Amino acid sequence: MKGNVILTGFMGTGKTSLGKMLATKLGRPFVDIDKKIEDEAHLSIPKIFERFGEEHFRELERVAVKELSERRGLVISTGGGTIKDAENLRLLKNSGVMICLTTEPEEIFNRTARRGERPVLDGGGDERLATIKKLLAERQKFYERADYTVDTTEWSPIQIVDDICRYLRQFRS
Ligand code: S3P
Repeated sequence: MKGNVILTGFMGTGKTSLGKMLATKLGRPFVDIDKKIEDEAHLSIPKIFERFGEEHFRELERVAVKELSERRGLVISTGGGTIKDAENLRLLKNSGVMICLTTEPEEIFNRTARRGERPVLDGGGDERLATIKKLLAERQKFYERADYTVDTTEWSPIQIVDDICRYLRQFRS
């Protein structure tokens, strides 16, 4: 398969760690969009939000998506909000096969507990679980556009990667 493999899904669903494993298994280069943005801006995502605001971050995200979607043969992990943008979704989908990782809101709550890492959730205070549920509901329609969805709640990383590889076999040429 010449196209990219794109991992999407909400924060805390394992896009980065599973993306790395998947890339190793497929023998492809791995690119994490958030890491690319951080490396190019020489700033962490929370600092970009703090200093320049979310809209600036979304602009950097659009630039990164445009560049990566012109390449082929990559495993790409998106940020949880990347495909909210219609053009980002279109470009990424056209560049390959999109896989969505999901898990339960409570699991996301636990996996994203560390403050200061996810500015979109940090404002929520005690309402963090409610914020997660609200954002999940808002974003559901974008995540549903993926070609294949894997629920990561019960499975080990190896099982998830194996399942994705099994799905991708049909695109082998
Ligand atoms: C965001 C998710 C984050 C990062 C940024 C915004 C979002 O990526 O892009 O903090 O809007 O869901 P992860 O999904 O890798 O945490």
